[in-house]
Amino acid sequence: MEKIAIYPGSFDPVTNGHMDIIERGLNIFDKIIVAILINPNKKYLFSLEERLEMLEKSLEQFSNIEIDSFSGLLVNYAEIRKANAILRGMRAVSDFEYEFQLALMNRKLNRDVQSVFLMTGLRWIFTSSSIIKEAARFGGDITSMVPPLVDKKLKEKMKETLP
Ligand code: PNS
Repeated sequence: MEKIAIYPGSFDPVTNGHMDIIERGLNIFDKIIVAILINPNKKYLFSLEERLEMLEKSLEQFSNIEIDSFSGLLVNYAEIRKANAILRGMRAVSDFEYEFQLALMNRKLNRDVQSVFLMTGLRWIFTSSSIIKEAARFGGDITSMVPPLVDKKLKEKMKETLP
């Protein structure tokens, strides 16, 4: 049976920490579906289309990756896509409580979908999409923390949004 994992998230925007988890996840799974949650109640810096494009272009060198979006329950989406696992990255201890709660709720909702965690690469332990956006907003150099296209798009976005 093909081992398929969903790697869900907001990806606003995708970072090198995400890229690292995806690359290492490909050593475990036959295919990874990177899926952006559509959440109309949340405000994002990048539109869904922009986030899909950044993921597609940044991951184009991998053949066993699919980029998609979903709404509703993650476990329902996993079932529809015939995925047997949810892949998540774990950074410092601060991630643990939320991830534990999410994994247990997902397990309660569907016992056939397993949550699999990869510890983040040490280089990315203190990076997140939010902190990278904040640094970029104030002119910080985030070039080494995101794929080249994201770096370019972030710089463009900051020019558009700053007065
Ligand atoms: O990168 P994020 O924003 O931390 O990702 C969170 C995500 C998308 C994994 C989580 O919010 C999610 O799975 N949402 C879909 C709704 C759902 O199934 N929630 C968990 C059970 S209530």
